[in-house]
Amino acid sequence: MSHLVAPSMLSADFANLQRDIEMVNNSKADWFHLDIMDGVFVPNLSFGVPVVEAIHKHAKKPLDVHLMIVEPNKYVDAFYKAGAQLINVHYEACLHLHSTIQKIKSLGIMAGVTLNPHTPVSVLEEIIKDVDLVMLMSVNPGFGGQKFIENTVDKTRRLKELIQKSSSKALIEIDGGVNYETGKRLLDAGADVLVAGSFVFGAQNPTETIANLKAL
Ligand code: DX5
Ligand code: ZN
Repeated sequence: MSHLVAPSMLSADFANLQRDIEMVNNSKADWFHLDIMDGVFVPNLSFGVPVVEAIHKHAKKPLDVHLMIVEPNKYVDAFYKAGAQLINVHYEACLHLHSTIQKIKSLGIMAGVTLNPHTPVSVLEEIIKDVDLVMLMSVNPGFGGQKFIENTVDKTRRLKELIQKSSSKALIEIDGGVNYETGKRLLDAGADVLVAGSFVFGAQNPTETIANLKAL
């Protein structure tokens, strides 16, 4: 499988959201990455269920919903109904991660678990066969446009080893600070999905930037 690219709509122009959705629809991007922030789990607010529903009406590609919220278990159904095809919950926000993962899978959509930069991949040993995807944060969650945390490249290798050792089918997604240079190194280390926000939407030509990320 060649790698996937998921533009983060956090860096889109919210006053021209439909225009930016069409750009992604007409690009080589694979998924829409949607960042949900509650001002508690992370020090920022973004958008919630109604905006995901609105994006879903226009999006022609799967919605990858990244929940940066406390008690994500409570909102899984709402985001599923809003159109999510992948729900990413943070390891650090889930008291009963196994149960939350099973709940997401019971809806017939992909279940992902996300690790903050300080959380080691070893915490996933007992859950790795149950998840469809692991997302590594390569910045501290909360804001777009931050500097890439270098340790993520080695962490990606360690995650790949864990996945292979456990005969898990989990995909590896990386979120934060992705550009051509970090993206290439992450793919070499075993990444399957690259999220890119400011690098895509801050570019002169976002469509071409997505195509270039796909061609890495
Ligand atoms: C950060 C979000 C990211 C963010 C990435 O909390 O989870 O998805 O939009 O933005 P860039 O690609 O600009 O680092
Ligand atoms: Zn994200």
